[in-house]
Amino acid sequence: MDFLKFLKTVALAAAVVLPQMALAASGVAPPAQNWEFVGVFGQFDQAALKRGARVTVEVCMACHSVKYIKFDALKKLGFSEAEVIALAEAQSHNKKDAMLSPMDPVAAKDSFGVAPPDLSLITKARKGYEDYTYGILTGYLTDADRALVQQVMEDGALSEKELLEVSSALGLDPHHPDKVKEVLQRIQANENFNKYFPGHFFAMPQPLNDGAVAYTDGVENSLKQMAKDVTTFLAWAAEPTMMARKTLGIKVMLYLLVLTILFYAVKRRIWAKIH
Ligand code: HEC
Repeated sequence: MDFLKFLKTVALAAAVVLPQMALAASGVAPPAQNWEFVGVFGQFDQAALKRGARVTVEVCMACHSVKYIKFDALKKLGFSEAEVIALAEAQSHNKKDAMLSPMDPVAAKDSFGVAPPDLSLITKARKGYEDYTYGILTGYLTDADRALVQQVMEDGALSEKELLEVSSALGLDPHHPDKVKEVLQRIQANENFNKYFPGHFFAMPQPLNDGAVAYTDGVENSLKQMAKDVTTFLAWAAEPTMMARKTLGIKVMLYLLVLTILFYAVKRRIWAKIH
């Protein structure tokens, strides 16, 4: 009975303390998306991989490298030899080269203050995984958010209603009005605000907008669609052998299952005569 009481106390304490810890530690967690490649049977969508590779080469590689992938490897995504050569040449590379950004890391550091990180493993290297990468790409202020910030700043004093409204739009904690005001000022000063980057301000200007890259397969090139495709491509880049790993895993499990049934039958046969 005493032990039960103890358990209850611990559970209660956890219920009170844990959510507050989570609140204190966070910005906002990026919302979970539906990724077709997650899970035991999950596989990559080949068309999305191809679109994502093009967005990566045409947009992200202006600043970021994907150094563990060679242009040649893009053939596995269904690009033809000629397409791979064209993608490589667009970046002044040979098809045998790694996907290195033409931007010199020192120059990058000079203009941004930090060097843009290599994207090869980024989906595995951040808490939240692909949801985080997608969150970063879609977490910039929308036009509506900007209009709201503008309006609140013009009003001068931050009323209770505006505080709540703007905090919920930007994913800020309304319990700290001073922090919210500071954020609004930094937005007005044109710093890059992102809902999902821890600390909210960082060096990457919004890389994708509706229509940024022309799609040739009839899929709408909206910001969300492009963000989804790039993220899918980066998840592939972080583990190009994922599909093979999963297929092998399923085969091994099936093999072990059959073996177990077989051994069980053999065991019954062998021990049948002994009482
Ligand atoms: C104009 C240059 C530029 C372009 C284009 C660009 N980025 Fe970035 N990116 C940066 C810089 C600089 C940082 C480092 C930001 C920081 O840590 O303050 C960064 C950081 C990141 C991060 C890491 C955030 C973190 O948690 O540390 C991700 C993910 C990312 N970029 C993805 C992309 C993707 C995907 C694209 C293409 C759609 C892209 N970037 C295009 C400059 C760029």
